[in-house]
Order: sequence, then C-alpha cells, then structure tokens
Amino acid sequence: MDYAASRDEALARIAAAQDLGALETLRVEFLGKQGSVSGLLKTLGGMSADERQAVGPQIHALRESVSEALTTRKAALESAALDAQLAVETIDLTLPASETPRGSIHPVSQVMDELAEIFADMGFAVATGPEIEDDWHNFTALNIPESHPARAMHDTFYFPDKDGEGRAMLLRTHTSPVQIRAMLGQGAPIRIIAPGRVYRSDSDATHTPMFHQVEGLVIDRGITLGHLKWTLETFLKAFFERDDIVLRLRPSYFPFTEPSVEVDVGFAIVNGKRVLGGSGDAPGHGWMELLGSGMVNRKVIAAGGLDPDEWQGFAFGVGVDRLAMLKYGMDDLRAFFDGDVRWAAHYGFNPHDVPTLSGGVGTAA
Ligand code: PHE
Repeated sequence: MDYAASRDEALARIAAAQDLGALETLRVEFLGKQGSVSGLLKTLGGMSADERQAVGPQIHALRESVSEALTTRKAALESAALDAQLAVETIDLTLPASETPRGSIHPVSQVMDELAEIFADMGFAVATGPEIEDDWHNFTALNIPESHPARAMHDTFYFPDKDGEGRAMLLRTHTSPVQIRAMLGQGAPIRIIAPGRVYRSDSDATHTPMFHQVEGLVIDRGITLGHLKWTLETFLKAFFERDDIVLRLRPSYFPFTEPSVEVDVGFAIVNGKRVLGGSGDAPGHGWMELLGSGMVNRKVIAAGGLDPDEWQGFAFGVGVDRLAMLKYGMDDLRAFFDGDVRWAAHYGFNPHDVPTLSGGVGTAA
C-alpha cells in the first residue's frame, strides 16, 4: 500500500475544508473509530513481527500527519471565523447617537462643579489629596496630637498596617489634610479649594460613612477674619443665587484654627420649609449651622513648612452633600449613594447644563 499517496490525498482534502463542520466530517472519516487510518492501525495486530517493523512506522507517521493537519486547519478556520465576526460587529463611534443619553449628572458632582466655578472667579485653584491618608497629615500636623480627644470624635476608619515611615494609615476624616499638602507642596501664597470624599464611621438619615467636603485655604500676608467673612458671604450669595444671605459668626473650637468660628446662615420658614435668606433673628426666621472655619493656627502654618510670623491665613470646611440638600431640596442623605436610577433621574442634572458664572450656577434640575 502506498502510504505516502494516502497521506497526500488526506492532507489535500483537509486543506480544502471550508468550515469547521466539513473538517469534523474529515476527522471522523480518517481518525474516528471506523476511520480509514484507524483501520490501518488495527491491521498491525494481525501482522508478523517483521511486517509490523516495516509497515508500523509508516502507518503511525500517516496518523501523525493527518492529526497535525487537522489541528492546524482547525486553528486557521477558527481565527478566520473570529476575524469575520469582529469585522461584522465593528461600531462606528463617529455616527451621531440615535437616542438621547439617559445619564444625568449627580447633584454632588453638580455642586462640586458649581463650587469650582464660583471660587475660580475669586482666584482659587482646585487642589486634591489622597483619600487614604496617614495620621500625621490627617491629625498631627493639624494640631491634633495622639492623645487629643478630637481623634476619638472623628470615628476614624484605620487600616491594619502602618506605612513605610511607621505612620498609621486611615481613610481621611476631613479634607483639612489637603491644607498641609498644599503648604508643603507649593509654599505661600495659597488660594485653593479642595473638594473630595471623606470617611467617618457614622450612619443615619443625615450621616453616611462616606460623604463629601470642600476645604478652602487662603495663605498670604496680612490675612484677617474680615477676608474670611467676605469670601464666605460672596461664595454663599453666588451659590444660593440670593443677595439676602446673612451670616452669623459664632466663636467655636477646632484644633487647627485660632480663633475658630462656626458660620450660621439665616433662614425663613416658607410653607413649612426652610428657605435661606434674611437675618435669622427676624420674626419667623432662624439660624442654621452651615460650616466650620477660622484663622489657620500658627502651629499648622509651621507644620506646613511656613513661617507663621510672615504668613497668615484662613480655612473653612463645608459639607458638599449638605449644600446640595439645602439648595436642591433633598432630605435623606442616604439616597445620594443608593444608586437608584429614579432618584438620579429626578434630582440629576442634564450633562449639557455646565455651571458657568455667565450662564448661571444654579440651573434647576
Ligand atoms: N475639618 C473640619 C471638620 O471636618 C472643618 C473645618 C475646616 C473647620 C477648616 C475649620 C477650618 O469638621
């Protein structure tokens, strides 16, 4: 028998197979239980030892060649099939959308964009810092030493391991560590806001374990409490789009500011709802606590690598989620982070409504 001729014929037919189905039929025809090559292998059993020695290697080589050809052809057909599928499934991203996008901008993102726009107009840049902080930036440099009760008050989430310098690692409990990073990183003068996520182990209708703050920091020569009050007033009037916003500064305490002032904003009760505007002392009015602030403590300026005799400044911190709730009328903070598309559709903002000072920073949802 001419094994070479059988091999050449089999290989030619395998190479000509046009699809995986045809190839499988050939595999069965050659190598299946009743296959022709399998049949040849079976004949070995009935041969004399001499015969087997002469013919055996040829039959095995034939089986080897056929099996190899089948594998090669199979891979080629599969990759051709994939190429064809990829060609058919190509998406032309330059085509116009056939449907209006359904997504909307989350109120927190919207308010952060509004803040950036308002403060940019006053010469503030946007700064950021890491959400995973070390306890030196989050506490120590801000004049909150290890034994300070404020550390316990912050309900801090700690990581099990310390960093390379032996500092405890934590999820930042406020945006104030960005004050330190800005001073060390850029020196003075400074005018920044630092919006971002912060974390405290706390949860009810008005507290979530993750929430958002925006920090403000100004460092320059001759900065006073007057600059702080003007900045906050200008910001809040622009943000709430009302000229009758009235602030009340109350003495308070933060380790990183001295003196510290809590800022209240006057509101009126209209149809059972609190509406910001007017003095909180007027009949039917009240004061609402809005943010913490103060003159940057000399120790903090020194921790930031600056000379407190030359540089002064003010800082403030305010809850972004709270600002959003007040401006856009949501009452449950937890809904902010539930990811319910009905809530997002109701309170979300059109992606095309970019807040601008010229177009308005308060476009209603
Ligand atoms: N970091 C303070 C807080 O989270 C807020 C604050 C910032 C107060 C800056 C004063 C100055 O409560």
